[in-house]
Amino acid sequence: MSEDRMFMRRIAVIGSGYVGLTTGACLASLGHRVVCADVEKTKVARLSAGEVSIREPRLAELVAQGLAAGRLRFVIGASAAVPDAEVVFLCVPTPMGAGGAADLTAVESVVAEVRELLPAGCVVVNKSTVPVGTAARTAQLLARPDVAVVSNPEFLREGSAVEDFLKPDRIVVGCEAQDAAERVAALYSRLGAPTVLTDAASAEMVKYAANCFLAMKLSYVNAVAELCERLGADVLDVTEGIGYDRRIGQAFLQPGPGWGGSCLPKDTHAFLQVSAAAKFDFELLRASLDTNSRQQARMMDKVRDAVGGSLAGQRIGLLGLTFKAGTDDLRDSPALAVAALLAAEGADLIGYDPSVRAAVPGMTDDLQITDDPIKVASGAAALVVLTEWPEFRVLDWGLLAELVERRVVVDTRNLLDADVLRRVGFEVRGVGRRATPAVEPSAAIQAESSAVLSYDQSSQLPHARSTACRWRG
Ligand code: UDX
Repeated sequence: MSEDRMFMRRIAVIGSGYVGLTTGACLASLGHRVVCADVEKTKVARLSAGEVSIREPRLAELVAQGLAAGRLRFVIGASAAVPDAEVVFLCVPTPMGAGGAADLTAVESVVAEVRELLPAGCVVVNKSTVPVGTAARTAQLLARPDVAVVSNPEFLREGSAVEDFLKPDRIVVGCEAQDAAERVAALYSRLGAPTVLTDAASAEMVKYAANCFLAMKLSYVNAVAELCERLGADVLDVTEGIGYDRRIGQAFLQPGPGWGGSCLPKDTHAFLQVSAAAKFDFELLRASLDTNSRQQARMMDKVRDAVGGSLAGQRIGLLGLTFKAGTDDLRDSPALAVAALLAAEGADLIGYDPSVRAAVPGMTDDLQITDDPIKVASGAAALVVLTEWPEFRVLDWGLLAELVERRVVVDTRNLLDADVLRRVGFEVRGVGRRATPAVEPSAAIQAESSAVLSYDQSSQLPHARSTACRWRG
C-alpha cells in the first residue's frame, strides 16, 4: 500500500459551519476523504458548488481544491455521512444556554441520529467546545462499546482559521482508549505539531483553560492600561517591556474596548458554570469578566468626557462594529456593547464598518449604518474607533477634520497615528496612553540605541532589546 493510502482515512464531519467547514476542508487538503454534513439543504447545495459564504482566508480555495480532487463532498444530514466513516467529527454549535452553561442540544440530537448507523470500530471525535465530561456523556448516549469517543478541541481564530488548523501550536487528543486517541492524532501527523495525548476530561479542560487564560490576560492588560492613565505611564511601552519576557510573550497584549467574539465570552461563562457546579469559586475568572464589563463602561466614560460631560443628543461617529478586524462577525462584539452604552445615555449614533452593510440586529433604532466612513464625521461631536481595521489609519483625516463639529477621536484600539491626526487638528484619546507627547530622544541616544538594535538582530537573539531605542509620542 502506498504511503498516501496508508495515511488516508474516511472522515465524516457533522456540521458544516465555521469549525466544521474549516476542519473538513483542511483534512481533505491533508489527503483524507471527507464527507461534510449539514442540515441546511441550501448550504449543502452551495458548498457542493464551491460557494463559501464564510469570510475566511484560503477556505474557499481549499474547498474548491477538495471538490475538484474528489476528496471533499457535502451531504444533507448526519445519517448520510456516517455509514462509511472511520472517524466522525462532531462540529455542531454549542451556544451559551441558560445561566451561561453550554447548550448541548445539537450534540445530543446528532448522537441520537447516528448511533445505530456508525460502523463498528469507528471513532467519534468531539471538536466543539463542550463542558468537561461531555465525551463520557456522549459515550453513554451512544451506548456503543465498539465506538470510542475522543475529545479533540479546536483552537481556531476567526480570520486565520485555516492557518491555525494547518500550522497549529499543538494538537490535543483525549480518550481513555489509547489506540483511539492515537488514530485521531495520526490524522494530523503531516502537520508535525506537538501532540498532547491525554484522557477526555483533560482534553476538554484544555480548551476552556486556554480561552479563559487568554480572556484573563486581556482583562489584566486592560486593567494595567487604566492604571497607566492614572499614573502617567504608557501602556504600549509597558506591554512591550513585559512581552519580551518569554514567560509572558508579546501576543494578546493589546488593550482595547474589552474582549468579545463568539468564543471568549461564551467559554468564560461556561467555565464559571462548570466551576460553580464543582463547588469551586473561580474568583480570578469572575474578576476578569467584571473587568471586561468595566472596560466597556470606561470607553463610554471616555467618549462622554470627550464631548464635554453629557452624551444626550450628541452625534457620535463610530468606526468599526465587529468584535475584531478581519471578520464580519458581530457576535458579542465589544464595539456594540460600547455603542449600546452610548445609546443608553442618549447619544445619536452613526457607524461604519467595512464588513457591515445592513442594520445591526437589536440596534436598528439606535444606530444608523453608513457605507462610507467619511459620512460618520458629518456634524460629529466625537469619533470613536472601536475595531482595529487597518484602513482607518489611512482615512482622509484632513477631510474628516473639516466635517466634524469637534475634532476629537477616542481611539479604543490605539490604532491611529496620533501625529497624523494632530497635524490636522484632532485631539486623540487612546487607552492607557501617556497624555503628553514623549520627549524626542537626543541624536546621541538614537545612535547608541540603533547600535544596540543592530547588534541584537545580527546575533539573532530571540529577544532583541529594541525597546532601548523606542520613544513614543
Ligand atoms: C478565540 C481564541 O483565540 C481561539 O483560540 C479560540 O479557538 C476561539 O476564540 P477569536 O474569537 O476568533 O478566537 O478571537 P481572538 O482573535 O482570540 O480575539 C478575541 C477578542 O479579544 C476580540 O474582541 C479581540 O479584539 C480581543 N483582543 C485580542 C484584544 O482586545 N487584544 C488583543 O491583543 C487580542
